[in-house]
Parts: sequence; structure tokens; C-alpha cells
Amino acid sequence: MEKYLNAPIKEIITKFPEVGRILEEYKIGCVPCTLGSCLLKDIVAIHNLPVDQEAQLMYRVEKSIYPDRDIKKPEGKASARKTPSGKIKYSPPIKRLVDEHALIKKWLELIPAVLEKVDIESKIGRQLILDGLDFIRSYADKFHHAKEEDVLFGYTDKNLDIIKTILADHETARGHVKAMLEALGKGDEKTVFEHLNAYKELLTEHIKKEDEILYPWIDRGLSTAQVGELFAKFDEAEVKIDKEVVERCRRFAEKAEQRIEKIKKEVTK
Ligand SMILES: [Fe+2]
Ligand SMILES: [Fe+2]
Repeated sequence: MEKYLNAPIKEIITKFPEVGRILEEYKIGCVPCTLGSCLLKDIVAIHNLPVDQEAQLMYRVEKSIYPDRDIKKPEGKASARKTPSGKIKYSPPIKRLVDEHALIKKWLELIPAVLEKVDIESKIGRQLILDGLDFIRSYADKFHHAKEEDVLFGYTDKNLDIIKTILADHETARGHVKAMLEALGKGDEKTVFEHLNAYKELLTEHIKKEDEILYPWIDRGLSTAQVGELFAKFDEAEVKIDKEVVERCRRFAEKAEQRIEKIKKEVTK
């Protein structure tokens, strides 16, 4: 089993698809993950399951890999984890990042309506897309992702596969933005919308992964002194960013829905 504990999860799931199904039962989303390079042992540690559930999970995984092996079944019910009922409690600096996610999600949730109703040929539609891209670049990337990359991940081992996965998501997101700007310059609405939709899908999953798995895991490893230090470092990082730009982005996310409504009315006139 040692061999598989140290193997990338995608390799294990490809060889033993049942393992993917078991992980999904425990709300561990490795099957849809695009990279799948995390090691099985890290995945189990990061998800912080209650001891009895972890024992059940490992028993079932080992049984699917070695069905003929005589493995001692752990005590207790083989119940899979339910979605966590209580709210996750974050330390103050991590809570700041979760609140930033909430603003980013405001825009992400509006993207389906943009794809349906906005015409990039129209002045009002094109401006909305441009402002949305400004929000993604200035707020989601420069303001938020930069704090994760330059400060937060310094409290982890950047060689860990989960961090590599998160960094790869940031790069993919930047690729979508670049492609959108190019396509917008050519008036190619189809490509703009394809990348906008892909960005929405990627960031929605990414934020969920951070809020529910990565941040709580990092939080568990921080000492009280480190929590204070992290808070101060976030302050320092934010000083470098123009306050006006952050305010502009905040206003954009708050008002975007009204702007889309207005566009909808113009279309139905
Ligand atoms: Fe991130
Ligand atoms: Fe984030």
C-alpha cells in the first residue's frame, strides 16, 4: 500500500476507477481535477477527515486496490462524509481572502447572464466586458491572487502538489484573460465568450477548493504568532495597490447586475 500512498492520484484512479468513486463519496474532488498530481497520502492528510472516517476510507481504498488481501476492517459505520454542516471558522487574515472570494463570486455568478444577453458589438456590451476584464485582472489577479502567491503560500511548501495545482489554476486563468483581450480586439465574440465561460468554470471550482480545503488546511498549521504576522503582511501587500483601483473594482462587482439588467431591457425593446 505504501507504493500507492506515494503515487499521484490520477494514476491510481486511472488504474482503479473505484478509488475515484470512493473519494467522491467522501466529497474529495480528485476525479474532476485537471492535474491530479497530488499524492494519495497528502490528499488524505489535507482533507482532515474524522479519525473513524479516514480509517474507513483507507480501508475501502486498499480493498479496491487489493481485493484479495486480508485487511482488518475498522470499527464503526462505513458512512461517507456529509457536506460540512457548520460554517468553517477562519483566522482573521484568511477570512479576508474568503471575503474577497465573495466579491469575485458576485461577478462569476453573473457570467451566464452576460453570455446570454450581451452583444460585444454594442458600446454598452463591449464596455461591460472590458470592465469585467479589468475586475478580473486588477482585483481577482493583482489584488487577490498576488496576496496568495507572494504572502500566503510562503507559509506552505510550494513544492506540494496541492499548491502547484492552485498556482496552475492562476496561470490558466491568466491565459483565459489574455485570450479574451485578443479576441475582443478582433471582435470575435464566440472566442471571448468561450474563454469567459471557461474562466467562470475554473474560478468557481478554484474558490471552492480554497475555501473548503486549502485555507482550512493552511489555517490549521498556523501558530497564533503567524496569524498576526500574516495579517500584517496582507496590510503591507495592500499598501502597494492603488486604493482607488480596488474601490473601482468593488463598485463594478456591486453594480454589474444592474448593468446587465439594463442591457437586457435594451435587447427586448
Ligand atoms: Fe487562488
Ligand atoms: Fe483565492
